[in-house]
Amino acid sequence: MEILNAIKKRRSPRAFSEEKITDEQLDILFQAASWAPSARNEQPWIYLYARKENNELFEKFISCLVDANQIWAKNAQILILSVGRKKYEKNKSPNAYFLHDVGASNSYLALQAAEFGFQVHQMAGFDTEKTIEVFNLDKEEFIPNTFIAVGYAGNPDVLPENLRVAETSKRTRKNTTEFVKNKI
Ligand SMILES: Cc1cc2nc3c(=O)[nH]c(=O)nc-3n(C[C@H](O)[C@H](O)[C@H](O)COP(=O)(O)O)c2cc1C
Repeated sequence: MEILNAIKKRRSPRAFSEEKITDEQLDILFQAASWAPSARNEQPWIYLYARKENNELFEKFISCLVDANQIWAKNAQILILSVGRKKYEKNKSPNAYFLHDVGASNSYLALQAAEFGFQVHQMAGFDTEKTIEVFNLDKEEFIPNTFIAVGYAGNPDVLPENLRVAETSKRTRKNTTEFVKNKI
């Protein structure tokens, strides 16, 4: 039950405060990600990141996002890009589960952030081709998975009206009876 409570503490804010994330906290986020399960223990994730203070690099990350994400993600303290490795490192055969496993590691990272009292917000809203170019990714080997904004949740009043409403609305989930079934 305690884990369920920790899971419910995680959310995806769009308003971030100025409070800093320490290097130690960041390292622990990545350690949490590393303990996610993965097919054949391949751990097919790579994380790139930029702190807001590192203007030039941070701007590179921001430039890959769609406008609707740039508006709020620019206020995050750190931006992370999770990248998936498509093939098994040992024998170079395709790994059908790499995206699944990067999602799992991102979730572990998100839960650790919530446990620290800050949050992350994952984004699929980015330009894939531009990201591949900006980060010089080998398309045969890697796929950008999600950008992840990191920071302490801030005051929703700084957000435009539509985002403020989303930020302050009640979070909902399907009832388990809607997806736990005897047959589909
Ligand atoms: C793979 C993935 C992609 C997402 N892409 C975006 C995005 O581009 N922009 C955005 O504002 N939120 C994005 N989200 C956040 C979801 O909208 C959010 O997780 C969902 O509404 C549930 O809210 P919660 O995380 O606060 O529980 C994404 C989440 C995931 C897991």
